[in-house]
Amino acid sequence: PTTRYYNWTVSEVDGNPDGVSRTLIVINGQFPGPLLECNEGDTLVIDVHNAGTNSTSLHWHGQYQNGTNFMDGITGVTNCPIPPGTSFRYKFTVRGQHGTYWYHAHFSTQRVDGLFGPFIIHSPMEVTSVEYQSDRIVMLHDHYHDLSSALLPTYLASDNENAEPVPNGALINGLNVIDCAKVDPRYKCDSSSARLARFDLEKDKSHRLRFINVGAFAEFDVEVDNHEFILIEVDGVSVLPYPLHRFRINVAQRYSIILAANHHPESSFWLRARMIAHCFASIPENLEAEVRGIIHYVSPSSTDKDQLPLPTTTSWNEAMELECKDLNTTELIPAVAMAAPKADMMVRLRSNFEIGGYALSRGYFNSTSWRPDSGAPTLLQAIAGLSSGNASFRTSDSGGMMDKAFDVKRQMVVKVDGLKTVDVLIDNFDDGNHPFHLHGYQFWVLGQGRGYFNMSTYESLNTTNPLRRDTVTIEQYGWVLIRFVADNSGMWAFHCHIAWHLAAGMLMQFLVGGDVVGGWEIPEEVQGLCDNPERQRGGGI
Ligand code: C2O
Ligand code: CU
Repeated sequence: PTTRYYNWTVSEVDGNPDGVSRTLIVINGQFPGPLLECNEGDTLVIDVHNAGTNSTSLHWHGQYQNGTNFMDGITGVTNCPIPPGTSFRYKFTVRGQHGTYWYHAHFSTQRVDGLFGPFIIHSPMEVTSVEYQSDRIVMLHDHYHDLSSALLPTYLASDNENAEPVPNGALINGLNVIDCAKVDPRYKCDSSSARLARFDLEKDKSHRLRFINVGAFAEFDVEVDNHEFILIEVDGVSVLPYPLHRFRINVAQRYSIILAANHHPESSFWLRARMIAHCFASIPENLEAEVRGIIHYVSPSSTDKDQLPLPTTTSWNEAMELECKDLNTTELIPAVAMAAPKADMMVRLRSNFEIGGYALSRGYFNSTSWRPDSGAPTLLQAIAGLSSGNASFRTSDSGGMMDKAFDVKRQMVVKVDGLKTVDVLIDNFDDGNHPFHLHGYQFWVLGQGRGYFNMSTYESLNTTNPLRRDTVTIEQYGWVLIRFVADNSGMWAFHCHIAWHLAAGMLMQFLVGGDVVGGWEIPEEVQGLCDNPERQRGGGI
């Protein structure tokens, strides 16, 4: 294991990734952000200097942060934002996990504006059931031509719960070429230097493509013309090789596939990623829901990097599956085995969008809608409360809601003490689907479906090797049942990963291991951010 140092500056730049000019929030001038790459066991030290006009914060999606909950970077829950003109050092060790991850801003909706990047962890522990000779990253993302801070207030205004801002298009690894003739004239558009993402793959070799949905809102259907491929990884979890020719990937999810470059005689193929636009509130007439990349076969000696005709291949062209849900990973794709123990407790959540007391459309868990406190994040409040023996930070029984310690309308905190195995059953009363993400853990997906979970099937669920992952889709009017072993102390968020829904309050928290957490000393620089009066600049969350 080694220590890897990164020096990052966050700033705003003018960019035109698809041809349309807009402001992007970037790291070291790069969009998407730089690759973080390490071996399991390494320690990462990432110095982030905020040279932007607003505060910011970075989160390492899917990282356990065991013992370093302070470095989770989720504003309002574990950290205060980094004010403009200041710096913060993230430092954590990657333990017990490997595969494909990513990082993104966790302050306001800044990740929608470009503040994200890939994070790959290599390990001899990774079960690579299928050999491959090259390794690529394919970030898929919906893309907006306006700053998210301009779109958010309209969405959060009265009665707009079903009017999530609709993306103007999509990008692969930050690239696409838009047809300027179809772009609203209020935008500046010149796509002459825009290009498509291109993947030069050595022919007759096998290649790993790591797909990451780094977008704000849209799910994608992904396929490569003429090619079947083999799924080997889901959200950092190795799975038994599973042949596919298309998969659906929701916001924040990752899928690694192995693609064999042996479909001769052609040598260029379209990689297609289509936003599931029928799940949008409205579909703008000019929306190009499909973004393409180029898969190009090369021989080791080839040098003709640039002069290539575009692929002429055609899509698989089946009827699109019309439901807005995950690839049904729970039954079809067994994880590399790790049996789920029996649950000790069950937390039942109802998620919904409701028109609240002030006629604002808010996202809810049970009767709570998250709004971060402007002062200390809940973790720091809990440490202070627990270490001083303040009774309201304790609940008499394990699994209780900490409704005395926090304003329960804003902060739903479920306390889990002792080494418990926790089931979370979520019922979605909303007409939209939501990719739910749990910080600090991978969970088993024990079931998902339409309507209500049938309790009489509870004892007969597959617990032998169900899929583990960190982000799962719950369909509209559906349910999902997940299970995790609460062995990682800290304050962990559970939230919808759609940027707009998170901003509307669809988040709750688990406080795991209160006696451990109550003994933590808050590192000085973590406390320092919370003492800075400028910390909330540019957004409340
Ligand atoms: Cu990708 Cu709260 O995180
Ligand atoms: Cu959602």
